[in-house]
Amino acid sequence: TEKELDEIYVFAVQLGKDAGKMLMAAAQSRFGSQPVQTFTEKDSSVDIVTQTDEDVEAFIKNSIAQKYPQHKFVGEESYSKGGSRAYQITESSPTWCVDPLDGTVNYTHLFPMFCVSIAFILHGRAVIGVVYAPFLSQLFTACRGRGAWLNETQRLPLIRDPAPPLPKNAPAGCIFSCEWGKDRKDAPDGNLARKVNTFLNMAAEAGGRGGKGGMVHGIRSLGSATLDLAYTAMGAFDIWWEGGCWEWDVAAGIAILQEAGGLVTTANPPEDPATAKIEDAGLGSRLYLAIRPAGDSETESGREGQ
Ligand code: IPD
Repeated sequence: TEKELDEIYVFAVQLGKDAGKMLMAAAQSRFGSQPVQTFTEKDSSVDIVTQTDEDVEAFIKNSIAQKYPQHKFVGEESYSKGGSRAYQITESSPTWCVDPLDGTVNYTHLFPMFCVSIAFILHGRAVIGVVYAPFLSQLFTACRGRGAWLNETQRLPLIRDPAPPLPKNAPAGCIFSCEWGKDRKDAPDGNLARKVNTFLNMAAEAGGRGGKGGMVHGIRSLGSATLDLAYTAMGAFDIWWEGGCWEWDVAAGIAILQEAGGLVTTANPPEDPATAKIEDAGLGSRLYLAIRPAGDSETESGREGQ
């Protein structure tokens, strides 16, 4: 029922805050003593885990098991180490999907873009998302039908009423975000370059069509897929594109983005993101394209030229 969902939401937000405090306390214990967090490699030299990932996942998993013993739990550290991915998110069981520390590489370098990411999945859809980045003091929360929020007071997207449309010649004029991902076996350094080049080319072509120069405003790579989605929900990123994600990397971010009115699709980037009809993405894809909440370009003047 909706009342039960409210209760689960309150529980999830508190869990996110407590887990974020654990992340920060563990990070702070290293300030001034060691330059990086120690880590262990999983599938590759860039796929790493710290003791903190495991401690925080154990805390979240146990808290959920005590409160909701009938719910299923899928967490990055319970499934990713050693290559066993024998989990299933089914339509029938309410499931928690958790990344205790998204942005582990950032965390080991004390780069502030790391967070805990908690999603609650009902009938195969992420209906609650909690993303807490304690170093940034940014808490993103959303629950189906209840809006998406930054620090529980600011509604997302931050630019709204209504949110401006994407520029007419998008991705020209956009901030585009993408990640390197961890599966770099085939092209160790080529993966990120390929994504960036694709968008630069699209922008150049779109610029030719729109006659406004065809330049992307900026390209960003935060190092945390779920934070990328939260920033897209905020409206800070116009477009985000990532291949190779697992459910725990994106579930909470998808809930937040969709509740903010943004779009996420599993398809390859459309030719013209400003006008494309975007198919709703479910979970279970490895490739995602997200677009920030955007108003209708026919009724709004947009940000162009402002
Ligand atoms: C990773 C980060 C990274 C993304 C990878 C994820 P982790 O998660 O979100 O930005 O490119 O696909 O696996 O390992 O830091 O939890």
